[in-house]
Amino acid sequence: MSDLVIRTEELSRHFGSVRAVDSLSLEVPAGIVFGFLGPNGAGKTTTIRLLLGLLEPTGGRACVLGFDTRRESDRIREQCGALLEHSGLYERLSAEDNLEFYGRVWRMPPAERRKRTQELLAHLGLWERRHELVGTWSRGMKQKLALARALLHRPRLIFLDEPTAGLDPVGAVAVREDLARLTAREGVTVFLTTHNLAEAEKLCQQVGVIREGRLLAVGSPDELRTRTGAPRAQIVGRGFDERVLELLRARPEVTDVRLHDGQLSLELRGDGDTAPLVSLLVSVGAQVEEVRKGKASLEEVFLTLMEEER
Ligand SMILES: Nc1ncnc2c1ncn2[C@@H]1O[C@H](COP(=O)(O)OP(=O)(O)OP(=O)(O)O)[C@@H](O)[C@H]1O
Ligand SMILES: [Mg+2]
Repeated sequence: MSDLVIRTEELSRHFGSVRAVDSLSLEVPAGIVFGFLGPNGAGKTTTIRLLLGLLEPTGGRACVLGFDTRRESDRIREQCGALLEHSGLYERLSAEDNLEFYGRVWRMPPAERRKRTQELLAHLGLWERRHELVGTWSRGMKQKLALARALLHRPRLIFLDEPTAGLDPVGAVAVREDLARLTAREGVTVFLTTHNLAEAEKLCQQVGVIREGRLLAVGSPDELRTRTGAPRAQIVGRGFDERVLELLRARPEVTDVRLHDGQLSLELRGDGDTAPLVSLLVSVGAQVEEVRKGKASLEEVFLTLMEEER
């Protein structure tokens, strides 16, 4: 239990007939970035609010940093950072004054407050601009500052609800890199939601997929790809023509074949063994130079999961 920062058992929250979170049992170990994925309305934000004790569950229970969310939510909010829909930033204050303000809220001693503010702003490349009013800043800069706010009091766990939503690709990469760097450096555990599967793949050691309040899958992105996606193979070589494609299509273990740029892309059934297919290609006079076995992307896994449950 000691190295689990989040543990829920059959956690549920219903709003009338809507099961926003439905018997969610989840364990998040310390020191990782955990990605919570799911379509709009899946229950991600509701889960975060339950974990922070901002919302009462209608069933089940949850422990965060060893504290019960029903009885000890003050302790949880003290020791966690959060970046939810609202950044919590004051537009009419400078960046430095925003962090100063929150440092007081967290009752950090003045020297510690200043040191931490400087450290975070410097790391995010915002120190030179600390006197500017936040209202004049770009969305990406604000989002970085909001991240600094969430990390200010050195929480052991932070919740980030769509930290890169609304940012352009360059801004999203910058925030993502800062996030990865800062959290690794400070050893903080991160629970984040995102709609960006490529982002989850890059940032998260573990992901959970939720739909209509129910947890469909949990594991490392790699595990999910192996478990859910059909095996794939790319075959590079020469002499692949229509006749070869027909032969491959006739094989029971091949579910799909495509040819582009002289390279074969196969989707397979079963264990994905390509040896018999390579023999077949060679026997009809094609030349095989390279076989690459691949897995589905997290996006493909996600779409498969969404379809399966319907
Ligand atoms: N306060 C509330 N009152 C009534 N229904 C609610 C309330 N909060 C959430 N819901 C419902 O619970 C479900 C889950 O909502 P939630 O905000 O947790 O989804 P989400 O996964 O965060 O979605 P998104 O990706 O769009 O942010 C939705 O059907 C939503 O309408
Ligand atoms: Mg949400």
